[in-house]
Amino acid sequence: MDTRPFENERTLAAHRENGSLDEFHRSYADAVASVESELGASHSLWIDGRWVETDETYTVTSPADENLEIGRFAAGGSDEVDRAVAAASDAFDEWRGTHWRERAEMFRRAAEVMRERKFELAATLTLENGKNRAEAMADVDEGIDFLRFYARELERNDGYEYDTGEPTPGQHCTNALEPFGVFAVVGPFNFPFAIFCGMLSGALLTGNTAVAKPASATPLIAHRAVEILVEAGVPDGVVNLVTGSGRAVGQPLVEHEDVAGAVFTGSRTVGRSIRRTFFDLEKSGPVIAELGGKNPVIVTANADLEKAVSGVRNGAFGYSGQKCSATSRVYVDERVIEAFTDRLVDATEELVIDRPRAEDAFVSPLIDDDALDRYVEICEAAREVGTIRTGGRVVAGGDGSGGSGAEDRTGDLSAGRFVEPTVVTGVPHDHELARDEHFVPFVTVHPVSGLDEAITKANDSSYGLCAGLFSEDEAEIDAWFERIESGMCYVNREQSATTGALVQAQPFGGWKASGTTSKFAGGYWYLPQFLREQSRTVVG
Ligand code: SER
Repeated sequence: MDTRPFENERTLAAHRENGSLDEFHRSYADAVASVESELGASHSLWIDGRWVETDETYTVTSPADENLEIGRFAAGGSDEVDRAVAAASDAFDEWRGTHWRERAEMFRRAAEVMRERKFELAATLTLENGKNRAEAMADVDEGIDFLRFYARELERNDGYEYDTGEPTPGQHCTNALEPFGVFAVVGPFNFPFAIFCGMLSGALLTGNTAVAKPASATPLIAHRAVEILVEAGVPDGVVNLVTGSGRAVGQPLVEHEDVAGAVFTGSRTVGRSIRRTFFDLEKSGPVIAELGGKNPVIVTANADLEKAVSGVRNGAFGYSGQKCSATSRVYVDERVIEAFTDRLVDATEELVIDRPRAEDAFVSPLIDDDALDRYVEICEAAREVGTIRTGGRVVAGGDGSGGSGAEDRTGDLSAGRFVEPTVVTGVPHDHELARDEHFVPFVTVHPVSGLDEAITKANDSSYGLCAGLFSEDEAEIDAWFERIESGMCYVNREQSATTGALVQAQPFGGWKASGTTSKFAGGYWYLPQFLREQSRTVVG
């Protein structure tokens, strides 16, 4: 067993610290060129250790450039779901009987392969979901961390089997945590490597088998992840990959009578429907879901405003706000709100909107036309009820009616979906703009009379995923920790007020409607959720 302290992958930071940033940029650019030269292929489903073709396929294009075809992917349906679930059911007994040490070894091997291929994987993300190089590499690093950390956890807990003693003479008791069976693993587009790998490894390491359905916008990176697991030794039928739409694949999958559990990251609506399905079908297995946020940040009169501006800007606009952890509402003490907002506006206007592969690109494209429409709609609403202090325009994509001089600032982005990071003031705290999750680069700033009002307003939300505080005052920090209703709580985090949790050190999950369980991804209690207890007594 690996007894060293857990160390996170920190690829970009390590290159920066070693003075080898040039090498990082070169390797990344080479990887983008190489991955791009192989795009456009056809990809089947992976069921029971075989490629399975479907009559229907769908084409995925890059959100940064609709002319860049990522590939053609099999569009699965209920027949393919049936086949995949049957394969996963058949493989279950042998897999659960595979010693946990062996499973842990397999996932560690897979993590090593991911490490060796990290630039290729990051480049794939950039092309497929539009993450810039820093965000793409962080996504890959996190995926590797999940595999390594969960493998360690399985070992640290001796495969979750405990001797519970001899309560009365002759009664020998053990307590075993056993897998449920087949898990549906349904992934998001925004962390299509990290979260997909994290959820899948949680299910598989614990001895369950899986049918994985990636987000329909990001099937290529899911293929890469599954391919690596298979290369590392995960047997036929244990992991199955069915691409396609939520309606055609996701729904029959969670409804399938032989699917025992589900792990999902995505919208609250879909999460709620999976829970309802499990309830209606009287499935006793778990629905482990992470369901978004409306993440508040508080800036008090005792804050370091430089830190606060940087943290809010990066938290709100990293990957263009398409993170459940994105900063989306900011409560600022009225004594400093003018200075804070002016500086936030200036700092936001410095952000570079460019194709994600460009070295200095910060702002990423929006994933699809729905996101673009949502952005246009909420900016219109913001103009009516408040003031757009910066942003509010479509740079490229849609009907272009927002027109913003994209050519001057950014070069040709016309084949992508790019919008400006947007800072809004004057929106009432209870307006839907400040209440609903929008998943676009849009943040509202609200005045408050002090910390007490700020915390009350921050907590006045059905969500409770991430929260940030900027204050140099210890009493304020203590008061905030005492009252804030949020799974993830960050104080004075300049690099990002609410995003970028690290596996093990910052387990990730939500309170209230942000999640279905109180146990967090990348934390010590994550794996047991995929297991059910069995109390065993032998007399004699
Ligand atoms: N782990 C990511 C973050 O912290 C979200 O899934 O931003």
